[in-house]
Amino acid sequence: MILDAATAALRLLPAETAHRATISLTRAWGGLLPAAPPPDKRLAIRVLGKTFANPIGLAAGFDKNAVVPNTMLRLGFGFVECGTVTPRPQKGNPRPRLFRLAQDRAVINRMGFNNDGMEEAAVCLARRQRRGVVGINIGANKDSADRIADYRAAFERLAPYADYVTVNVSSPNTPGLRGLQNRDELTLLLATLTAARAILAPTTPLLLKIAPDLDGHALDDIAAVVGASGIEGLIVSNTTVARPASLKSPEAKETGGLSGAPLFEPSTQILRAVRQRVSPSLVLIGAGGIASGAQAYAKIRAGASLVQLYSALAYEGPGIVVRLQQELLACLTRDGFATIADAIGADATTLPLREGRKITK
Ligand SMILES: Cc1cc2nc3c(=O)[nH]c(=O)nc-3n(C[C@H](O)[C@H](O)[C@H](O)COP(=O)(O)O)c2cc1C
Repeated sequence: MILDAATAALRLLPAETAHRATISLTRAWGGLLPAAPPPDKRLAIRVLGKTFANPIGLAAGFDKNAVVPNTMLRLGFGFVECGTVTPRPQKGNPRPRLFRLAQDRAVINRMGFNNDGMEEAAVCLARRQRRGVVGINIGANKDSADRIADYRAAFERLAPYADYVTVNVSSPNTPGLRGLQNRDELTLLLATLTAARAILAPTTPLLLKIAPDLDGHALDDIAAVVGASGIEGLIVSNTTVARPASLKSPEAKETGGLSGAPLFEPSTQILRAVRQRVSPSLVLIGAGGIASGAQAYAKIRAGASLVQLYSALAYEGPGIVVRLQQELLACLTRDGFATIADAIGADATTLPLREGRKITK
């Protein structure tokens, strides 16, 4: 496929140059790309008040400025999360700040929320023809004096264009940001956002994206705060600051968040631990190291209703989306599940609640 050949060529460029080229090419020519075939109906799922054509989403960080969500949907993603968007534009950290760990099928990034700010994102989103499911991931500016006010401002500006909003408190690349996962700060942050939502966008689901580097006590606190807050879901997880001893690539020593293959096991373990702690009505989105349908399926069986990926797309190109759909379907058939909804939480001790009626073929 021509897109896979283009991905192989882009891999010869430095990582961030390749990413910028990918976004520019997608923006300029994306409308001409052939649409992926419609996914099998057994992969459709109703959750967060929306129907997702399939459960495989594009994780935040690929389309930080919300310039290509519709093209990414056309390539077969069941949903696309844009951002992280901060209130004011910011450059992010000095380059180089994005590293391929090719021998490990991994990435390290310390981008630092480089983005054009919420006004630019709002312009792009307002222009977009609304179709599919598009979430917006929001964050705080690095130099903000009041981070909670930043989240509120970004929520108020962008929620009208979002099918859901993700509150990103787990990037390791903005100093102090992950402190917002602590009990008191998280309570205040989520109270502020649910209050803003009640006035402005009462039907917009709110999700919290957490780090994989949390211990059992921190997860207990998050589960308690989230349970009391009235938000709808959690994304598990962002990148890790850990460096597994198994890493082989010389770039492994770089500072930043590690994603891709080495994140699969730890992020899936945290997903399991979170599923045990939260109410069955809370929706979980599994992210971290997904590069096969079997891995997406494992996260779904662990309790995720939806999954997301980013790093594997950088290695394999957009052909990965349809491949994953086919592999996921093969897993369902093998295990005798009629639909993806039937497999959610199959390995979990507490089952997530079903929303609406089952979607069958
Ligand atoms: C280059 C890069 C930039 C990212 N930027 C963001 C971001 O802005 N906001 C966010 O919530 N997550 C960001 N992420 C994390 C991803 O959304 C995802 O949670 C993580 O990479 C794990 O998935 P993966 O292993 O499939 O890449 C970024 C990841 C990468 C590789």
